[in-house]
Amino acid sequence: MSLSTQTGFDFHKVDSILEANSYEKSKLIAILQQVQEEFRYLPLDVLTYIGTKIEGLSPATVYGVATFYAQFSLEPKGKFEIKVCDGTACHVRGSMPVLNAIKARLNLKDGCFTTDDGLFSVETVSCLGACGLAPVVVINGKVYPQMTSDAIKIVIDTIINEEKEA
Ligand code: FES
Repeated sequence: MSLSTQTGFDFHKVDSILEANSYEKSKLIAILQQVQEEFRYLPLDVLTYIGTKIEGLSPATVYGVATFYAQFSLEPKGKFEIKVCDGTACHVRGSMPVLNAIKARLNLKDGCFTTDDGLFSVETVSCLGACGLAPVVVINGKVYPQMTSDAIKIVIDTIINEEKEA
């Protein structure tokens, strides 16, 4: 039985990424970035696999690096990645009520960041460099300026409706 059928992940893709980076310990961050791009997150099985494939690394070290950097997610991300800026300007101008409105609209309980259907994931990020537009929300790279709780609900409803029609 191949690794991919045992765990559900396509380890051939991981192998190609490792190969492209010459199995180099010093390229671990780049490898993790590329793997995350491929799977939209870093599955635990894949982190363990990387730790057994690169000389001089252990699964525990790879896991430690992956959890240290905020850019890496060990949870599956949604098709739509919502980033709520919680830098100072956005915080002062109400980013937390906007975040709470998002979580309420998506029925996300505390500690859950991705909806059960995999459509949305939500996270807070530090200053996005657009403080004049605070509070700022970014969805799949698109900037939504001066968000309010009501406005973000309309944005989310629009996405949900478009997805239903697609
Ligand atoms: S604090 Fe949100 S963009 Fe700067």
